[in-house]
Amino acid sequence: MTVTQSASSQPRTRVLVLISGNGSNLQALIDAQRSGTLPVELVAVISNRPGVKGLQRAESAGIPTEVVDHTLFDNRDNFDQALQQTIDAYAPDLVVLAGFMRILTERFTHHYHGRMLNIHPSLLPKYQGLNTHERVLQAGDAEHGVSVHFVTAELDGGPVALQARVPVLPDDDANRLAQRVLQQEHRIYPLAVKWFAQGRLRMVDGRVFMDSEPLGPSGYPIDNHASI
Ligand code: GAR
Repeated sequence: MTVTQSASSQPRTRVLVLISGNGSNLQALIDAQRSGTLPVELVAVISNRPGVKGLQRAESAGIPTEVVDHTLFDNRDNFDQALQQTIDAYAPDLVVLAGFMRILTERFTHHYHGRMLNIHPSLLPKYQGLNTHERVLQAGDAEHGVSVHFVTAELDGGPVALQARVPVLPDDDANRLAQRVLQQEHRIYPLAVKWFAQGRLRMVDGRVFMDSEPLGPSGYPIDNHASI
């Protein structure tokens, strides 16, 4: 694993974050890193959309930013190749998708196999894809949540590392439910990145291991009070 030295001479995992928009999950990582609970180096933030709030958040935190605008490429493969080149110039140990709303090619996901995480607002394998909160409400589910998973070629289909659950309340609309899920996203994503950086969380042969123990399909069972 490539590491750099921190001020205190501790080796730090190099984390690069991909975003498409608001970047509140990015902010949760920045805040955890600043408060000292997430001992990684945030080496760069790359957006596929120019002018988004997440880029401002990165700039305010002094993190280098790049835009690889997908609209300037005539196909998915060319975009992914340009994105990969931009990412690899920073030599990250871990690529973190934080609201990065692009379907990725198999070649791209293979290149980052075992070192790319995504956060998805549902209890995977339920509700892969878009509009998860609306679909949960339509289905009348009593429970919803968020998953952090390793990225594979299958969209939102890689093995789950962590999940957090929230109740669906009688007066919920999609917005209220999304906010409740987002609170949990901001709690578990820094935790997952920290555990990866500590070498505790790994994907081996398509299975996720925590402290060398294989995890089940719901990932590591964190309780509602776990924090980093
Ligand atoms: C988050 O809810 C994240 O789980 C979701 O996009 C939102 C980004 O918010 N990601 C996906 O749906 C990926 N399939 P943010 O930009 O404020 O972090």
